[in-house]
Amino acid sequence: MNNDIIINKTVSFVKDTLKNAESGHDWWHINRVWTNARHIAAAEDCNLLVVELAALLHDIADSKFHNGDEEIGPQTAGNFLKTIDADAQTIEHVQQIIRYMSFKASFNKSGFHSPELAIVQDADRLDAIGAIGIARAFAYGGHKNREIYNPEIEPNLNMSKEEYKSSTAPTINHFYEKLLLLKDKMNTAEGKRLAMERHEFMEQFLKQFYSEISLPSLF
Ligand code: ADP
Ligand code: NI
Repeated sequence: MNNDIIINKTVSFVKDTLKNAESGHDWWHINRVWTNARHIAAAEDCNLLVVELAALLHDIADSKFHNGDEEIGPQTAGNFLKTIDADAQTIEHVQQIIRYMSFKASFNKSGFHSPELAIVQDADRLDAIGAIGIARAFAYGGHKNREIYNPEIEPNLNMSKEEYKSSTAPTINHFYEKLLLLKDKMNTAEGKRLAMERHEFMEQFLKQFYSEISLPSLF
C-alpha cells in the first residue's frame, strides 16, 4: 500500500475513534499536531511516514481515561496499523513514540530516542502552549470542574507523577506547574522557535489576567 493510502486510512480511523472525545484531545487537536509535525519535519532528517502516523495516533487512547493503563495507546495504534498492513518496523517505531512522548515519560531520561519522536513530541507540546494551549487548559479544567483561579492555592512546582494526575488545583496553577516549563523542553530548532513565540503570548496573557484581578481602584 502506498504511503498516501496508509495516511488516509489512518485519518479516517482517528476521526472515527475520537468522534466523542473531550475537546482537548479531539480530532482537531490531532489535526493541529499533525500540521505542526509536518511543518517541523520539513527541516529535519527523518522518516516522514513514521512522523505522520505517530502524530495521528499519539492520543488514540489516553491512559488518563483508561485507568492509567499506559500500554492502551501503543496497543490500539499497533492493532490498527496491522489491519492496514503497515510494515512491522514502522508499527514498532510508532508504538515506541506513543509510549515515550508524554510529559511524564519525558522525566525518564534513559528511555527511547529518535528524530521522529523528537518531532512529534515538539508538535504535541506546541499545542499545549500559546493561545491554543490557554484554551485547552481552561477547557480541560472545566471538564474536570476545576476553579479558574484561587489565590489561596499556590502552584506546586514539585509534584510527583501521582500528585500531578490527581491534582485538583485551579487551572491557572497549571501554567506554572507545566505550561511555562515546556519551552525549555523542546527538541528541534523550529520547535524551539515556535515555542518561544507561544510562551511570550502566555506570559502576556498572565500579566493581563492578574492586572484584571487586582484593579487598584477597588482598594
Ligand atoms: P499530553 O497530551 O501531552 O499528555 P495532557 O493529556 O496532560 O497532555 O493534557 C492535555 C491538555 O489538557 C493540555 O493542553 C494540558 O495543558 C491540559 N491539562 C492537563 N492537565 C491539566 C490541568 N491539571 N489543568 C489544566 N489543564 C490541564
Ligand atoms: Ni496530544
